Amino acid sequence: MIINVYKDYNEISQKTSEFIVEYVKQKPEAIICFAGGTTPLRTYSLLVDYANRGEIDFSSCSFIGLDEWVGLDRHDDGSCQETMYNTLFSPLNIKESNIFFFDAKSVNLEDECRKIDEIISSKGGIDLMLLGIGVNGHLGFNEPGVQFDLSTHVIELDETTKVVGQKYFKVETELTKGITLGIKQVLNSDTVILMANGDKKADAVKAMVEGEVTNQMPASALQKHDNCYVMLDKEAAAQLEL
Ligand code: PGA
Repeated sequence: MIINVYKDYNEISQKTSEFIVEYVKQKPEAIICFAGGTTPLRTYSLLVDYANRGEIDFSSCSFIGLDEWVGLDRHDDGSCQETMYNTLFSPLNIKESNIFFFDAKSVNLEDECRKIDEIISSKGGIDLMLLGIGVNGHLGFNEPGVQFDLSTHVIELDETTKVVGQKYFKVETELTKGITLGIKQVLNSDTVILMANGDKKADAVKAMVEGEVTNQMPASALQKHDNCYVMLDKEAAAQLEL
């Protein structure tokens, strides 16, 4: 893990967007997996600015969905897909044929999982992932206790995720299960960026970086990734013994 500590949220967003722009310049056909959630939102808006200035072109990239609340799709307020479309895919005019998301409303979620696994395999794996971390240490919806050798799967959400997840919805929403890429796919991806800001994330960040590698803290799996860049603001890094 390469740990980078910056002044504030704006700075981690700036540095992360620069990293992504450089990556895509080197590899215009990159297979990308970007997280929903609130942490990367400023990064996405900066990427849209870069594209609008003509400094980067994402039109040859493929975008793979990271996770979704089971029962929701892109038209549901607060879904992961809605966030990705509103903040990135639509402003960048990404072609539908370059977006690969599971249908979390499907009656056969297992088929959806295998479909995404096959797409990732057929494209030779994911090049670049941008992830956040949950206060409980989850990555995507890889919740505490998850097996590290799973690919895309459906999972019972952790109680913390059900409560914290309400922040994405205007009305209280029953959250029970998630569909998510697995830790195996995270570890197999070429490059991972993990962003965290704010003191609420400090405990999880410390456990991720300095704790033992354990499935009770899914993000600790990133210690095993050779090309993982952790982008933190001072608050999120406050408990690290740097
Ligand atoms: P957040 O979510 O960016 O909204 O804090 C991160 C996560 O739960 O993975």
